[in-house]
Amino acid sequence: AHPPIRTICCIGAGYVGGPTMAVIADRCPGIQVTVVDLNAERIAAWNDPDLGRLPVYEPGLDAVVGRARGRNLHFSTEVDAAIAAADMVFLSVNTPTKTKGVGAGQASDLRWIEASARQVAASARGHTIVVEKSTLPVRTAETVKAILGAAQQNRPEGDRRQAKTFAVLSNPEFLAEGTAIADLEAPDRVLIGGEDPAAIESLAGIYGTWVPQDRILRTNLWSSELSKLTANAYLAQRISSINSIAALCEATGADVREVGRAIGTDSRIGSKFLQAGPGFGGSCFQKDILNLVYLCRHYGLEEVAGYWEQVVTLNTWQQDRIARLVVQRLFGTVTGKRLAVLGFAFKADTNDTREAPAIRICQDLIEEGARLVIVDPKVSAAQIAEDLGQPSSPADGGWQTAGSPLEAASGADAILILTEWRDYARLDWGAIAAQMRRPAWLFDARAIADAAAARAAGLNVWRVGEG
Ligand code: NAD
Ligand code: UGA
Repeated sequence: AHPPIRTICCIGAGYVGGPTMAVIADRCPGIQVTVVDLNAERIAAWNDPDLGRLPVYEPGLDAVVGRARGRNLHFSTEVDAAIAAADMVFLSVNTPTKTKGVGAGQASDLRWIEASARQVAASARGHTIVVEKSTLPVRTAETVKAILGAAQQNRPEGDRRQAKTFAVLSNPEFLAEGTAIADLEAPDRVLIGGEDPAAIESLAGIYGTWVPQDRILRTNLWSSELSKLTANAYLAQRISSINSIAALCEATGADVREVGRAIGTDSRIGSKFLQAGPGFGGSCFQKDILNLVYLCRHYGLEEVAGYWEQVVTLNTWQQDRIARLVVQRLFGTVTGKRLAVLGFAFKADTNDTREAPAIRICQDLIEEGARLVIVDPKVSAAQIAEDLGQPSSPADGGWQTAGSPLEAASGADAILILTEWRDYARLDWGAIAAQMRRPAWLFDARAIADAAAARAAGLNVWRVGEG
């Protein structure tokens, strides 16, 4: 029999920790869930009475938090107290690519995972199940176990003081931003890796409240850790594959959407993740593949490393290619030209801009002297300034924001669509074209706009993957 879990602590109140714990609390009213973070501002935002101001934007998140917060879902900066009270601690801290030292540019920076493991080692009481929720290099559980093991106090038989013991599990998260709540409420699978059957069943019992048993996969620790990196590598590989074919379509008169449909109907290939675009963004695909590449090199598998590295190389090339193509079509120069950029987030339905393709593309165009006017329904001007590394300015080689696509288009030579926000499928091209300087262009890197309507309104249209 496995002991029931009554209290959970999650270290890290980010894009994963916040939504994941909110759903667990919502589905398991009998478990007290406390999400802790060092970042007091972030915790304050999670506690904001106005649910429209949570630090993470996800459709449906406000309702879930609204139901559970204050009942059995809590957000706090008191890390040690929450660890001490917990039967189970999730480590959901950031694991970005190292910027310095050995493995810089590829390996994961594990300083936050190590710090949080040390904090658990110091503050835990009794038996604590520690769950790796962050995406980690395979064999990180060894490190976590070593840190916890040094603090473990097994008591001899008859010693009535409380023992301090740990079990370590790997439970990677597969949610995608923009659909986090739907993904958490009905996951394709939940993956639990571990060595201690009782600990595995404790965690499986939590998910089992709302996830069918046949979707809860149990593996050893290393398979679980490696499956997360592998899943992201496969997903990203599909995007680089279709983007490579998009370039060939443009050169040959084929249309990547027709090719995508033709291959996607093969059930072995499947129809999802075949959308050509400006290259993948987001905080994880690039970092996780680079981490995989680093691990392969570490184990002496140079050809395997090179194979996966090419997925990232192709992605960077796709982003550069789009910026270059815009300059070329606009008669070889964009200096002083007003370009409207629609969408800055790395995908629709999120306010996240980490590694967004828009960043590189905008930077390249700014470098060429363009005047960018950027619109995004969820990304703030302050965030754009941070990402582009320069404050807003209407000068040549500068950027500013506008309140609507129509306003951004006023006097512009071109419109670039970089994020597939649904509204961009319904733009009034007659009204927009009337505001633009002729000849005017639409560069649709997401192939979401009504290209026929834009052409009918007199625009020159480039769509990704259309020859
Ligand atoms: P994030 O940066 O949004 O959140 C991490 C949080 O951890 C930050 O708020 C940070 O302040 C906090 N933190 C770091 N060290 C701490 C400590 N010692 N004590 C308390 N708080 C601490 O990151 P995220 O996007 O939520 O990602 C977390 C992990 O989940 C990463 O490993 C990532 O690869 C993985 N992941 C992310 C996604 C996603 O969609 N973003 C999906 C699946 C997996
Ligand atoms: C991705 C995975 O889908 C999740 O399973 C995983 O948990 C997560 O990474 C993670 O580990 O962080 P996410 O990055 O949030 O989720 O979003 P995706 O929907 O995968 O999109 C990633 C990027 O690929 C976006 O820039 C998106 O626009 C792009 N994309 C996606 C395409 O260009 N074409 C497609 O067909 C699909």
